[in-house]
Amino acid sequence: MTNSTDLIASFQRAGQGQVFAFYDQLGADERARLLAEAAEIDLAEVEQLYRTLVADKGAAGLDLAGLAPAPYEKRPEHGGDSAAWTRAKAAGEAALRAGRVAAFTVAGGQGTRLGYDGPKGTFPITPIHAKPLFQVFAEKIQAAGVRYGKPLHWFIMTSHANHVATEEFFAAHQFFGLEAARVHFFRQGRMPAVDFAGRILLEGKAAIALSPDGHGGSLRALERSGALDLMQREGIDTLSYFQVDNPLVRCIDPAFIGWHVLRQSEMSSKLVLKAYAEEKVGHFCVQHGRTLVIEYSDLPMDLQRQQEPDGTLRYRGGSIAVHILDRDFVRRMARAAEAGGAAALPFHRADKKIPTVDAAGTEVKPAKANGVKFEMFVFDALPFARNPVLIETLRQDDFSPVKNGEGLDSPQTCRDDQRRQFARWLRANGATVNVDATGLPDINVEVSPRFGYDEDSFADAWKKLSPRPVIRDGLDLV
Ligand code: UTP
Repeated sequence: MTNSTDLIASFQRAGQGQVFAFYDQLGADERARLLAEAAEIDLAEVEQLYRTLVADKGAAGLDLAGLAPAPYEKRPEHGGDSAAWTRAKAAGEAALRAGRVAAFTVAGGQGTRLGYDGPKGTFPITPIHAKPLFQVFAEKIQAAGVRYGKPLHWFIMTSHANHVATEEFFAAHQFFGLEAARVHFFRQGRMPAVDFAGRILLEGKAAIALSPDGHGGSLRALERSGALDLMQREGIDTLSYFQVDNPLVRCIDPAFIGWHVLRQSEMSSKLVLKAYAEEKVGHFCVQHGRTLVIEYSDLPMDLQRQQEPDGTLRYRGGSIAVHILDRDFVRRMARAAEAGGAAALPFHRADKKIPTVDAAGTEVKPAKANGVKFEMFVFDALPFARNPVLIETLRQDDFSPVKNGEGLDSPQTCRDDQRRQFARWLRANGATVNVDATGLPDINVEVSPRFGYDEDSFADAWKKLSPRPVIRDGLDLV
């Protein structure tokens, strides 16, 4: 281990001496903390990221050569091969019964847009009971374990900022009925923020401005934390990846798992049809034989608006951040990240307002962006994956994220989408539920995942129900 003098000297040599500007004023604990944070930083990496992403910004725009929309497996109701979907579902169920699958939630984000104090997974979200996001997933995962006769492991990636609070939350709620030994928390990595001149920013006199390294950091965090080894020991080779802010997701989806397994894919993703040309989603594309996601901000608007002869959008496949990952693929990507180089996930820059201290040590809350954070995105792994599969899904079954406090993608829209889903399941099984033109029922209703967590499990439970409940406001199926 480097001693403090060497560490400080290495920062000075790299032109990052400002990190220790207040060192002489610090107490022993503060010094130790600052040194520990500094030791996490790969100075050469920071220098290289600054050079390529900030100093030379815009030098390399998106190369459009050979770009085309990615092919995908259509849903049967949109002309897809229904026999192939049936085979996929059977294969996924077999993988679940064999215990090959684990759930994986990325929950290390900062959730700044929602403006909620606490880990986002603790945010209350169901329409009647206001169950927290984590509880919704826990109950779905538990119910899937019961359905397939194999309890699932659940990996949860946290951040340094929310790790302890997340663990405490689960402990305080007895893991929502899951076996604690099957729930695994691990922290993701952090990256320092730099100013526009490439200098690492301090958050306080004794703290570096460090932030999570993006959901793409999950690949190396899975490896570093020992999660991949644990999977290997347990005979798990397939990870079902989803975000903490999307309670509608079929977090254990046999058809999706089955497509992935049957195609011997290393990474598979769900795709929704874009609602309109300008919708702000990542676009599934292919280029030079590789599948990739191009962000809406990078894909030229004329391409986003292009239409097929039948009037549908040409670039119509949007990403909803739901993936299946092969364990050995994650390991390969993680090792590539440690080694650096072209086979690793790239970093992206995000210009942000980063609270910091000025030269006198006074705290500054900037009114406009004063620096850059570096993040990796998990979908950037797709081009490296063998046989990637994209399958179409319907938003109503898989996607209603909680991003903002109000308006689009807010708790209100998410609660409404849950009610629409419950109403659809009820109506599909013969119950009379009045809904408006958007499918929103005129009653408040909640279905516990323990009763039914997808249309199949709901239908099975409903059939067994005797007597059937009266359909009225406050209907609560547990
Ligand atoms: P978002 O892109 O919505 O970011 O994350 P966020 O940090 O949660 O929210 P804002 O942008 O600050 O409002 C999408 C998913 O990826 C996870 C989040 O927890 C969420 O599940 N994520 C994001 C991580 O796990 N780590 C990260 O570094 C970033």
